[in-house]
Amino acid sequence: MKVFMTGGTGFVGTTLTRNLVEQGHQVTVLTRKIPVNDTLPHGVSLLEGDPTRRGEWQRRVPQHDIIVNLAGASIFMRWDKKGKAVIRESRVSTTTNLIEALSDGMKNETTFISTSAVGYYGFHGDETLEEDSPPGDDFLASVTREWEAAAIQAEAFGARVLVCRLGIVLGRNGGALGEMLPLFQKGLGSPLGSGNQWFSWIHEMDLVGIYLFLIAKKDLSGPINCTAPEPVRNNDLTQALGKALGKRTFMPSVPGFVIKLIKGEFGSVLLEGQRVLPKKLLDAGFHFRFSRIDEALNDLLG
Ligand SMILES: NC(=O)c1ccc[n+]([C@@H]2O[C@H](COP(=O)([O-])OP(=O)(O)OC[C@H]3O[C@@H](n4cnc5c(N)ncnc54)[C@H](OP(=O)(O)O)[C@@H]3O)[C@@H](O)[C@H]2O)c1
Repeated sequence: MKVFMTGGTGFVGTTLTRNLVEQGHQVTVLTRKIPVNDTLPHGVSLLEGDPTRRGEWQRRVPQHDIIVNLAGASIFMRWDKKGKAVIRESRVSTTTNLIEALSDGMKNETTFISTSAVGYYGFHGDETLEEDSPPGDDFLASVTREWEAAAIQAEAFGARVLVCRLGIVLGRNGGALGEMLPLFQKGLGSPLGSGNQWFSWIHEMDLVGIYLFLIAKKDLSGPINCTAPEPVRNNDLTQALGKALGKRTFMPSVPGFVIKLIKGEFGSVLLEGQRVLPKKLLDAGFHFRFSRIDEALNDLLG
């Protein structure tokens, strides 16, 4: 099938694209800047354009069967007024522009797979969260609410819309592990704050499996929690990461106020997690290869 992807040059998009072409799909990746000398696998083509702005690129969208919308500026930045505007615009405007493009002669049976995050739920302590749990009201929750609301508009044109609420993606080439590894490899890994906060994660290959499953399973739609069935507390993540790397994690935990001082409002994301369960995927019969954090980390780091 023909797939149109935003954010396809990123951490998740690169792995997903590689696996989609291996499955025989043709992928068009929209990027703000086509790199010089980029070698692309057979079946991938790059299209230059800024998804946050209307443009010529929009004319190409309706020619595709599947739209995967992954674009979004990294949230690992200082959340000042400008930073927040970039985080929001790179997600909401991108989605709105894709919908506008689809309204112009969409194919029958188009599947629109947009992205969201477990941050949708806000912070809930030990409460377990499923797809029908209510949204939170902090900054990330409000951005994801708008992001999801924009995506759902595609239903008005007859598209099947899926909104993947991604947990923290654990993969080989970047993402959260890329941020954590340098300290842990030096034996300086430690829990953050109380260490009791929940961490809802997903192995990158299970995430790829979920996208392929969602493409094939035409009766699924709406929000989908893309998280492993066994979320862990920050303390358990710290221990499992130390063990997988063969490094001791005996450093005292980093006090919450220090994290808040360094990271500002973004610090809350590190100090207060959410315990999210992939109810719809489990009910639909999706099989996770990596349900346990130790198995996932051993696979990625072993
Ligand atoms: N990784 C995770 O753990 C995680 C967890 C929850 C949700 N998510 C969401 O999943 C999506 C993909 O995550 P990722 O980790 O693969 O992100 P990533 O590596 O940072 O890649 C994001 C992509 O978005 C595009 N982008 C970046 N800044 C942009 C901007 N200001 N305006 C428009 N496009 C911009 C870039 O494409 P070009 O430079 O080619 O234009 C980039 O390849 C993101 O929306 C993210 O919020 C990720």
